[in-house]
Amino acid sequence: MHAFVVRQDRFGEPEDAWQREVIDTPEIGPLDVLVYVMATGINYNNVWAALGKPVDVIADRQKKGEPEDFHAGGSDCSGIVWAVGDKVTNVKPGDEVVVHSGWWEPDDPYVLSGRDPMLAESTRIWGYQTNYGSYCQFARAQSHQCQPKPKHLTWEAAGSYLLCASTAYRMLMGWQPNIVEKGDHVLVWGAAGGLGSMALQIVSAYGGKAIAVVSDDAKRQFCLDHGAVGVINRNDFTHWGPMPDTNSPEWGVWFKGARAFGKAFWEAAGDKVAPTIVFEHPGEATLPTSGFLSGTGGMIVICAGTSGYNVTLDLRYHWMRQKRFQGSHLSNDEQAEAVNQLVIDGKVDPCLSQTFTFDEIGKAHQLMHENRHPYGNMAALVNATEPGQGAS
Ligand SMILES: NC(=O)c1ccc[n+]([C@@H]2O[C@H](COP(=O)([O-])OP(=O)(O)OC[C@H]3O[C@@H](n4cnc5c(N)ncnc54)[C@H](OP(=O)(O)O)[C@@H]3O)[C@@H](O)[C@H]2O)c1
Repeated sequence: MHAFVVRQDRFGEPEDAWQREVIDTPEIGPLDVLVYVMATGINYNNVWAALGKPVDVIADRQKKGEPEDFHAGGSDCSGIVWAVGDKVTNVKPGDEVVVHSGWWEPDDPYVLSGRDPMLAESTRIWGYQTNYGSYCQFARAQSHQCQPKPKHLTWEAAGSYLLCASTAYRMLMGWQPNIVEKGDHVLVWGAAGGLGSMALQIVSAYGGKAIAVVSDDAKRQFCLDHGAVGVINRNDFTHWGPMPDTNSPEWGVWFKGARAFGKAFWEAAGDKVAPTIVFEHPGEATLPTSGFLSGTGGMIVICAGTSGYNVTLDLRYHWMRQKRFQGSHLSNDEQAEAVNQLVIDGKVDPCLSQTFTFDEIGKAHQLMHENRHPYGNMAALVNATEPGQGAS
């Protein structure tokens, strides 16, 4: 089959690292499915795979005994079930599906105990930490990852959203009691991006009020159109990066910046309120501000550190106001199903921004790497021959 593949000797700029190759179609296990991929989403994790950092996913898998010296990635897709393992009962060949990216060993004792499989030791990101993902003509997935394809969507729209949507759903609705409730204010970083555009709509679907952060006024209308009640341009501020030593004069400058950002939040919210949830993923650059702004008893929920991994936080605000700092990662089956239902019901739009050809998979990752990609989620055609097909 044809597949887009990274090899260790070309780790680096995504446009060069991702190359089309012909590789063997994988075998499937008893609980696996082989999906004839119609379209794939483009996600940030495969920018990291191309760079070979912070993790060399190929070496990592080889250490665990897998023989392949390549990474055939892709963590989001729409397609048609082509073959199923002999213990699969939830889907059959011919079913039109979308695939979420939570992967775990079916016989992991933690999974078998009935607890949240996303907290199991064997959990991996499908198509990033596992091979034969959605940049393959035939992707290998576990049957539980399959959800019904929303019928009203084209292949490319259906293939574009589930990774970001399910991650955003778990962040906003998965961490009781800090979930979105009617009237809650939620600060959403990177609001015109893949995760952010899903978060705006999920907050809105549950009656919350999302305040969007972007770096460019051109993204303002997009955020308002997708549920934000107000928008802040982060380029109006300069206090980004790790928080300075709290005893230093630089901290005073930082604090002034954080307070000014808080004032901008009040203006965008139309009220002197604090966010009950801060939807975080930039990490190092923004976390001190997120920690400061989050309301009493509120939660900063984070799934990435795009700008860096060093956490600085003014702990005085954290304990005195009894805030929660919660890590979150992908989603379990129930959360993927719940957000897919919001898409089926028309409450969340995939925000498909641009559809690339199969041969442009590297280019799409390069745009993402340079933060020059269009708003929302991108897709690339795999077996679908042209855009606009698959909707009924
Ligand atoms: N753990 C998980 O389950 C999971 C799932 C999905 C994604 N992720 C990770 O989450 C991150 C975002 O993914 P995505 O798909 O939303 O990417 P995306 O579409 O590129 O959106 C991210 C947005 O973040 C904003 N941003 C970038 N650098 C920033 C900075 N220094 N300070 C503040 N904002 C910044 C940018 O918007 P502006 O420039 O407009 O502010 C950008 O559009 C990636 O690192 C990805 O790997 C993790």
